[in-house]
Amino acid sequence: MSLVTGARIERIVILTGAGVSAESGLNTFRDAGGLWEGLDPMDIATPQAFARDPALVYRFYNARRNQLAQVQPNAAHRALARLQAQFPGEVFLVTQNVDDLHERGGSPQVCHMHGELRRVLCGVCRAGAAAREDYDARSRCAQCGESGGLRPDVVWFGEIPYHMQVIGAQLARCDLFVAVGTSGVVYPAAGFVREARAAGALTVEVNPELSEVTGCFHQQRRGPATREVAVLVEELLGS
Ligand code: OAD
Repeated sequence: MSLVTGARIERIVILTGAGVSAESGLNTFRDAGGLWEGLDPMDIATPQAFARDPALVYRFYNARRNQLAQVQPNAAHRALARLQAQFPGEVFLVTQNVDDLHERGGSPQVCHMHGELRRVLCGVCRAGAAAREDYDARSRCAQCGESGGLRPDVVWFGEIPYHMQVIGAQLARCDLFVAVGTSGVVYPAAGFVREARAAGALTVEVNPELSEVTGCFHQQRRGPATREVAVLVEELLGS
């Protein structure tokens, strides 16, 4: 199926989810064997869970951050980086992922709307910093020196994702919106396809399975991200 049916494409927004990193060996959240299987996200990924059992939350995020050293970016991350580097128009990449595989795959710009595993945030002075080693309730903030305030710099349920104004502006002016490897369960990201359509964009979903918002897309590409993103990028760069 060809993408460019005569449409003039100058501005592209790509949204990625856990599925883009699945073939690198990082578990998704909701697939069989996923991160949330046997776990209630409300016991981990909320401010209330952190207040109730910080040790559990520190362990979960330290383990996920340490896992990044064991995995490599895959062909989908690299193809998206190539698109960003070579497409003659604009390409805005927004990810729900807290891993760093887009950056390591060569992407020059990545908007992390759900934060980053490799960063911590100080609840006392609000300073952000790189998380170079395991941290817990005893760790001190490099900025204010206080201990007990550090938390993963990730967006939890009930919190507002980062960069929403910038993302909204990009969606309002894009001609092509592509969602890769996301289940369409978690808002506001799940609503981006509708925003892009309202702005007149062509919308394409890349996913081996149906998502919760599959019906909102003009075009579905069923298959793994490594294959389907590579094909899509070839089409866009060739056109
Ligand atoms: P999910 O785990 O909900 O969905 C992953 C999606 O990737 C599914 O639709 C799979 O079918 C698809 N998938 C699996 N393998 C794939 C592959 N090889 N290629 C392409 N797609 C594949 O993950 P997200 O939609 O990213 O938020 O989850 C959204 C948010 O929910 C996360 O950012 C996280 C989570 O709770 C917070 O923690 C705030």
